Amino acid sequence: MAKRATSFVCQVCGAVHARWQGRCDSCGSWNSISQEETVTGSVPSSQRAGRKGRLIALEALSGSSPDAPRTRFGIEELDRVAGGGLVAGSVLLIGGDPGIGKSTLLIQASAALADAGHRVIYVSGEEAVAQVRLRAERLGLSGSSVELAAETNVEDIVATLAEGRTPALVVIDSIQTMWTDSAESAPGTVTQVRSSAQILIRYAKRAGAAVILVGHVTKDGQIAGPRVVEHMVDAVLSFEGDGAHQFRILRAQKNRFGPTDEIGVFEMTGLGLREVANPSELFLSQGDRGAPGTAVYAGMEGTRPVLVEIQALVVPTSLGTPRRAVVGWDPSRLSMVLAVLEARCGIKLGGHDVHLNVAGGFRITEPAADLAVAAALVSSLSGAALPVDTVHFGEISLTGAVRAVSHSPLRMKEAAKLGFTRAVAPEAKSTGGKSSPRDPAESALALESVASLGDLVAGIAARSPRRAQRPAQAAQEG
Ligand code: TYD
Ligand code: MG
Repeated sequence: MAKRATSFVCQVCGAVHARWQGRCDSCGSWNSISQEETVTGSVPSSQRAGRKGRLIALEALSGSSPDAPRTRFGIEELDRVAGGGLVAGSVLLIGGDPGIGKSTLLIQASAALADAGHRVIYVSGEEAVAQVRLRAERLGLSGSSVELAAETNVEDIVATLAEGRTPALVVIDSIQTMWTDSAESAPGTVTQVRSSAQILIRYAKRAGAAVILVGHVTKDGQIAGPRVVEHMVDAVLSFEGDGAHQFRILRAQKNRFGPTDEIGVFEMTGLGLREVANPSELFLSQGDRGAPGTAVYAGMEGTRPVLVEIQALVVPTSLGTPRRAVVGWDPSRLSMVLAVLEARCGIKLGGHDVHLNVAGGFRITEPAADLAVAAALVSSLSGAALPVDTVHFGEISLTGAVRAVSHSPLRMKEAAKLGFTRAVAPEAKSTGGKSSPRDPAESALALESVASLGDLVAGIAARSPRRAQRPAQAAQEG
């Protein structure tokens, strides 16, 4: 017999507690537990009956399986992040702050698929049909054959989807607004979100339609409520950016059908999201270069090189404890670079505030940015501007050595394409013995190899204006 019970469910992680408490033991979030009514079923009758299991055919790991067929959106930035297009029967979760442009992206993606002759259904649980229409009109998409609905009940939605031709794509905007008759708790609770997602996922697998779920994100960047949903879906994408900047980045956090290190770059314009095919141009500002404390970093995002500007400001501190402020990079990585600068090069920053900023609001995750950060820090401290035609990349180890990083040729090629002429980087690893001739585009860049952080500091110090001011040394150099 199924019986009703009251349980206390954490709205962040879905953990169930016996009584109310201020802090969830499972995920550590405060004030996230609320009371929910659940129907606890007893053991299903099939299990109680002691049924003998059906035999499953076991298969070898080797063997041929056809590649999952993919439907491309025709929006290159989106296709790349999705791993080359939508896989039939797969479920994607797209998370992002409110107002970042999730609905805009998805209506544009829906229209692109519909224009290619696929059936696309867009279910909005947040906006009325008229609002969605208005947005489509503004984007110039009102001629598209996307089918719209404003609905929040999952059973009604699945019943509607079962009618007619199987859609290639179903967009559910958003999963937090959905509710199902099968769960007793109030709409918006974890139990409802989880049950609704389960029903939609089951539909996707059964019908072979791709489903995209939109999820809201809390202040600390978690997809609110349905953390549990992240485990159930095939791919989790996050749509990032901030209100102060025009561009948005779509990043794969988990993908069963593709790589997770790819990004898609878009720009929010008055006419919706525009693809940015060459993000480097977006992140490099001409104005700041040539000022002390600015270094250009040749980075990689997935298979794509991206050049970004790293800005450092080192100023004497006015407080007892120096400030370390970082935007767009890992603060613990900055502490490490500062420690290595002090221990291996004798550069003491204990009496200085350090501010580090990745220009344009970009977020760097690669350790290969260490060298560019160190260059920006030393440049700001010494007042020596770095040459404007130079890019930096390389990982710094605790011993002060500079380690080679992956994809050096690609990074250099991109830098050469954008008009840079010099790269300060470690000597690239030899690739498996056979010495291939360097690509002409890549060799347009002069490689100034640095083996240790000391080499980098010496190189920058040689350009320092403070040094040139001393007449004796100026004479020596001259
Ligand atoms: P929206 O897609 O509704 O965000 P989300 O679904 O993630 O909450 O985007 C809303 C924001 O985007 C809004 O602040 C206005 C802006 N916007 C544009 O700048 N240009 C456009 O063409 C559109 C449709 C929206
Ligand atoms: Mg929206």
